[in-house]
Amino acid sequence: MKNKALIERAAAERRLSAAEWTELFATYTEADRAYAAALAQATARARFGNRVYTRGIVEFSNYCKNNCYYCGIRAGNREIVRYRLSEDEIFSCCENGYRLGFRTFVLQSGEDSYFDDERFCRIIRRIRAAFPDCAITLSVGEKSRAAYQAYFDAGADRYLLRHETADPEHYGMLHPAALSLANRLQCLRDLREIGYQTGAGMMVGTPWQEPRHLAADMVFLGEFRPEMVGIGPFIPHHQTPFRDHPAGSVPLTLLLMSMTRLILPSCLLPATTALGTAAADGRALGVQAGCNVVMPNLSPLNQRRNYLLYDNKLGVDDEAAESMRGLQEQMRKIGYECVVGRGDYIDLDNGDNGGQNE
Ligand code: 5AD
Repeated sequence: MKNKALIERAAAERRLSAAEWTELFATYTEADRAYAAALAQATARARFGNRVYTRGIVEFSNYCKNNCYYCGIRAGNREIVRYRLSEDEIFSCCENGYRLGFRTFVLQSGEDSYFDDERFCRIIRRIRAAFPDCAITLSVGEKSRAAYQAYFDAGADRYLLRHETADPEHYGMLHPAALSLANRLQCLRDLREIGYQTGAGMMVGTPWQEPRHLAADMVFLGEFRPEMVGIGPFIPHHQTPFRDHPAGSVPLTLLLMSMTRLILPSCLLPATTALGTAAADGRALGVQAGCNVVMPNLSPLNQRRNYLLYDNKLGVDDEAAESMRGLQEQMRKIGYECVVGRGDYIDLDNGDNGGQNE
């Protein structure tokens, strides 16, 4: 095995240098990937047992002011049907999710200015009041620090904002000039300081991505130490400028997931929908590579097919209950159990949790 020593050192020291990460991603073999997965799965099992946390996603608007070159709901896509859920519809998605056992709701949308801070805070407060035992996770993009603070004060607990790529030049090749890595990272620092459990992450195999870019991602994750990390393969969407670029590699995505588990042993790491889309048994493979979260869809069925960030997205035709059963079955087959409960981040390696859960 070519990179056994590097993988073991990453696990022991919870870091590698940028040059070492680059070496690993440029030269890894299938045996390396499988070895990293075995270590990562053992690491997750030692902390979480055979439990996989479930989070219900509500995709409440596909309007977006941004024009990211990879994303199907980019502003420039004139061919999709735009929708936004009403406050009552968002709330009933959560009610339905609660009945199904979910205790974390993820509210995700494009950057839609219809949901101004006042309106959005009202929705958060309503969900917070109705479901005091649930975690509220937001995934609504780049906002001002004041807005993040207002959402937090209204009752949100967690925030997902992938950094997408930690290399500023590569970031500029994936996004229009209005967006910058510097601002994205500032948002992540703001979220962390306000007190959110904070999620970063990246796509694997985006156009022009090189091993050194993934190395920068791993160095960033190792330094920022987010509580949650979302990693998925890039998958082209036919109505975007990246339509003709190939999808990211599943084995490489799995290796990134495993190495993330090894350097951030306590982190919440979803086996993403994109991974499940790129490979039939993708989410099971993710869990076997160290993932400990799955995120089924709670959005209304009639709008599901309008929230396509990439082609062939998994689960557009499944009722929430149905996709939950399917996932439970997939997890059961590999010896895991989907659990309900908030599933907060707890730093299981350093005795305390940095005040995250107080
Ligand atoms: N392929 C894979 N993932 C994508 N995302 C957006 N577009 C794509 C795509 N074409 C991811 C981004 C974003 C998250 C919500 O979805 O990483 O942060």
